[in-house]
Amino acid sequence: MKKSTEITKMRQRLLDWYDAQGRELPWRVRPEARAAGVQADPYAVWLSEIMLQQTTVPHAAPYWKKFLAAFPTVSDLAHAERDTVLAMWAGLGYYARARNLHKCAKMINDELGGTFPKTEAELLNLPGIGPYTAATIAAICFDEATNIVDGNVQRVVSRIFKIEDPLPKEQKTYRDHAAMLASPQRAGDYGQALMDLGATLCSPRSPKCELCPWQPHCAAYKDGQQTDYPKKTKKAKLPLRRGAVFVLFSKGHVLLERRPDKGLLGGMMGFPGTPWGEAPAAPLEAAPMKRNWEKCEGEVRHIFTHFELRLDVYTAQISEMIEGEWAKLSDIKSYALPSVMTKCLSLTGKA
Ligand code: ADE
Ligand code: SF4
Repeated sequence: MKKSTEITKMRQRLLDWYDAQGRELPWRVRPEARAAGVQADPYAVWLSEIMLQQTTVPHAAPYWKKFLAAFPTVSDLAHAERDTVLAMWAGLGYYARARNLHKCAKMINDELGGTFPKTEAELLNLPGIGPYTAATIAAICFDEATNIVDGNVQRVVSRIFKIEDPLPKEQKTYRDHAAMLASPQRAGDYGQALMDLGATLCSPRSPKCELCPWQPHCAAYKDGQQTDYPKKTKKAKLPLRRGAVFVLFSKGHVLLERRPDKGLLGGMMGFPGTPWGEAPAAPLEAAPMKRNWEKCEGEVRHIFTHFELRLDVYTAQISEMIEGEWAKLSDIKSYALPSVMTKCLSLTGKA
């Protein structure tokens, strides 16, 4: 536990640090800009937060810019074809998020007149908006005094308090400790400051404590145990699944197949292939046609949330296109091809 005078001091130190050293991010309205009257756009903030849940700032930034250019408002996004949205999302992963993103835009457009709700409680009712995203949008855009907790925040508070409960099981302990510190004033800046602190100074392996505004308050620093926190339960090794895909070329095109809406990579494009599981006993039976399939050297490896996938890639060239969905290779970026399928294409060495 910390005294309220110490907590007040911590809030002030963190906000001062943010004013001087917080990051400039494409979607962020810095305090000086806000003082000049610029307001954070909940649509732009929402997009950035959904993207950042699965990737880093440098990887997300070009996607965010592309989305805002193509769909300047939530209503523009709502009116887009779902496949256009999925294609633009390709490479970001977690495609259920892209489907929910589109669903959420439609709901805001159709049922809320194209305006984002302004409170954490109402935001939580929208598809794909969980506790983290609702708290973050409400704080950043409407200065609601919410408690923003992401992985960065968990790491910082674990060190400040030396929390012994292991993640990811004991979320509540981290939430409660973060709530004690959370600032009712400048809630949006405070939340972004804390996430920035975790992303820049309080890094997992080599925290830069000598630069940290919270160093005088940090129990782990005091004991020289920064990198012992957060405590984590040992991860079980991911199960391995195997499969084979068939990359068929013809006249500068490649044969694609849409994956079923339900399930992994739902609604995305891919190459025809075997199911993923035990190593397929007779992979060629899953080929789209009988052919002298050439097996590519090496294999494609890809990590999904719940398993690791290894794919053998077979390739062939035909002169006349058979029936099916053929994608022009020079235009392959406009298809909703997830990263694992892009890797398969690269392994052939032909595109
Ligand atoms: N990571 C995810 N969202 C963030 C934000 N709004 N500020 C800083 N880091 C973040
Ligand atoms: Fe993290 Fe070090 Fe700051 Fe503690 S002093 S919060 S470990 S950067």
